[in-house]
Amino acid sequence: MSAKLINGKEIAAQVRQQVAAGVEARKQKGLRAPGLAVVLVGHDPASQVYVGNKRKACEQAGILSLSYDLPEDTSQAALEALVDELNENPPAVDGILVQLPPLPSHLDADPILVKIRPDKDVDGFHPYNIGRLMQRKPTLRPCTPAGVITLLDSIGTPPYKGQHAVIVGGASNIVGRPMSMELLLKGATTTVCHRFTDNLEKFVGGEADILVAAVGKPGIIKGEWVKRGATVIDVGINRMDDGKLCGDVDFDAAAERAAYITPPVPGGVGPMTIATLLENTLYAATCCTPTPDAPSRELFVSGGGNPPNKTPPPKRGGFFYGRAFYCPYLALAF
Ligand code: GUN
Repeated sequence: MSAKLINGKEIAAQVRQQVAAGVEARKQKGLRAPGLAVVLVGHDPASQVYVGNKRKACEQAGILSLSYDLPEDTSQAALEALVDELNENPPAVDGILVQLPPLPSHLDADPILVKIRPDKDVDGFHPYNIGRLMQRKPTLRPCTPAGVITLLDSIGTPPYKGQHAVIVGGASNIVGRPMSMELLLKGATTTVCHRFTDNLEKFVGGEADILVAAVGKPGIIKGEWVKRGATVIDVGINRMDDGKLCGDVDFDAAAERAAYITPPVPGGVGPMTIATLLENTLYAATCCTPTPDAPSRELFVSGGGNPPNKTPPPKRGGFFYGRAFYCPYLALAF
């Protein structure tokens, strides 16, 4: 194997340490710890594992984790009522996450995602936050794609601009679509492949300087398609008949051609998703309890469509724009 491994676990651990330091700094200033409400409906075993990992990571970073485990037959109205309550009370809730998919089939995720206040939407799935990302003014960003960008940045992925990024599995709202927006924001020439793409090999083969696979089909990306010197990020997690996990990329062959590649699952992208969730929660808390050195509200207000300096920022608990924030760590590419 000639490719260098992108050590997602290590990079995620560094991010988690940074978040823990940020939480500690808040406490030193007399501010409360950030709080994340994690809602799980039903008993899907994989979701239980993911949610358990998210809760544990919160606690390790000093973030207050509030658990809401609801029965399988929870009604749409009951779930929406819980979101309403978390939106306003208790005040210690800075972030709200409803684990999906899969939600039980009688539940509709869309109205729930729209109900979560955008400034508590630590998943970054609310149309407001997705719209901000689309318009090059990101606020809270979907965790997996933002985590992939952290991975790419950490290896000093050369410069994005002038590079061709190909995303396979581009239709999903959780990974593919926001991933394409993140890479576009960085200045990469971005191609999105999805289930209606004919001849995947044509788009991936020899073409992709940055290849992100997020399909959910074991080995769909053949190693011999990978461009020599490419960076390969495998987001896929597939459970085989023998119980073992594998990704979307034929790892051994791809690692012979790529310059950088994520390790076979687990160990690559998954830990970054959780680390980014912690970052987002700290970020949301910063907006909820503004301090003199907190991100400027006015910047956000102007980005949100109100004329700068003409709309006085409403008091805490008022209209959303006034409670929101602008994040200085989001450097825009162009
Ligand atoms: N299910 C799979 N990935 C995710 C995620 O990033 N957030 C939530 N809420 N549910 C998921």
